[in-house]
Amino acid sequence: MVMTQPDANVFETLESEVRSYCRSWPTVFDHAHGSRLHDEKNRPYLDFFSGAGALNYGHNNPVLKRALLDYLERDGVTHALDMSTTAKRTFLETFQEIVLAPRALPYKVMFPGPGGTNAVEAALKLARKVKGRESVVFFANAFHGMSLGSLAVTGNAFKRAGAGIPLVHAIPMPFDSHGHDRAPGFPWFEQMLTSAGSGLDTPAAVIVETVQGEGGINVARTEWLRGLAELCRHHDMLLIVDDIQMGCGRTGPFFSFEESGITPDIVTLSKSLSGYGLPMAVTLFRPELDIWRPGEHNGTFRGVSPAFVTATAALEEYWRDGRLEKQTLARADQVEQALNAVTADEPATQVRGRGLAWGVEFADPARAGAVCARAFELGLLMETSGPRDEVVKLFPPLTIGDEELEEGLTLFGRAVRETARL
Ligand SMILES: Cc1ncc(COP(=O)(O)O)c(C=O)c1O
Repeated sequence: MVMTQPDANVFETLESEVRSYCRSWPTVFDHAHGSRLHDEKNRPYLDFFSGAGALNYGHNNPVLKRALLDYLERDGVTHALDMSTTAKRTFLETFQEIVLAPRALPYKVMFPGPGGTNAVEAALKLARKVKGRESVVFFANAFHGMSLGSLAVTGNAFKRAGAGIPLVHAIPMPFDSHGHDRAPGFPWFEQMLTSAGSGLDTPAAVIVETVQGEGGINVARTEWLRGLAELCRHHDMLLIVDDIQMGCGRTGPFFSFEESGITPDIVTLSKSLSGYGLPMAVTLFRPELDIWRPGEHNGTFRGVSPAFVTATAALEEYWRDGRLEKQTLARADQVEQALNAVTADEPATQVRGRGLAWGVEFADPARAGAVCARAFELGLLMETSGPRDEVVKLFPPLTIGDEELEEGLTLFGRAVRETARL
């Protein structure tokens, strides 16, 4: 047994140095409802972070909570590996009826494990198995998770260095250069694919985020995504869209790629899929790709039934009609205008985003950090993203009230102004 001295700060004493968010927000949270978290002294914080995209419907959403409590109360099965359960059946039927069928998406559903990185690992494995090739193309500043396969297709040098072994069979390419150079095509990638002397063997797949979340809210243009889908088709590569952060309505529609009209071969979803912050992930793919042998990919936590229950309730509540999508798209304009107004006098800032995923890039990463730190003092939670943490990321719950959205934008404006002379 490890003996420790009593310490006022249990987390510093007992928890690993690897912890990170608690360093930006030095308080101890206790309870949460809707768009607000409260610390143990009952100080409220408006949440413009949303569990890094896992809480699109807010904290302890009452509709989801009711479904969860009813399920627990009646001793519904909690843990089931991949056994068939009524909770899973209802989720699969509801997902088919409300999400896949209306969008004419023919996907089979795989439960790869509890987290986003499990969904990505399964997608990469399946793509390699289907094509019988090893390499996968990813894009600069991509983030796909921390397990080794996902890390190999993640751009961030600091995170990659954590692997401790070579990260192989992954080829970086430039992401859409929106805002800098508006060349529509894939001159570099295409040339590598077509030149007999490039040294690039045809990859099994390409993995892409339509909006890079951790990479700094970099928005791919719809025409770029369409071009990528065409390039994949032409060169026999599977297209994987990682919708773990931008799916479940973050950009407006349920899937972030809907606006571009593409149909990816494989899609990953997690984060807000359970809707309640419970672990849940799926890998979706065209039926003809379903060449898995039974048990070839498994894992203990692939059937967290309470997550199926809240996921089903979230689909019923928010996706049977188009209200949430419309509201998110309308709010995108409101947020963009507010952010442009706040940064109008700020040299070298850039505002970008879609739906309710927004980023404000500052020339100096220290400024972005200072804005988030000041926001925390003012009672607003926001994180930074981007390769140098130079982007302040605004990620309110999609269900946030109008006044709370205004309040958060006002606090953000104050944080920007009050850090101007740092
Ligand atoms: C696009 C994307 N893919 C994958 C992941 C990894 O998900 P998880 O942290 O649940 O493993 C994340 C997490 O932020 C993500 O944003």
